[in-house]
Amino acid sequence: MEWVLEMYVCLCKAVTQKQIEDAVEQGDGYAQVRQKLGVASDCGCCGQMAKKVIREHLQKMPECEFSAAG
Ligand code: FES
Repeated sequence: MEWVLEMYVCLCKAVTQKQIEDAVEQGDGYAQVRQKLGVASDCGCCGQMAKKVIREHLQKMPECEFSAAG
């Protein structure tokens, strides 16, 4: 049996780190994550953590081949 640990970033809306990372990979930023997943829309405690998850995941993602063309 394999255990998969999910880290919840937003307890109010039950949003996991993986859900936020998947949204970032779809091109979403903080505003879209907030709108689509409901992060930071209730108590607001998770806003800073969500921003940190987004920032760190963006740093891990490979650079787009077109972004260097500019
Ligand atoms: S923990 Fe995310 S809105 Fe409350």
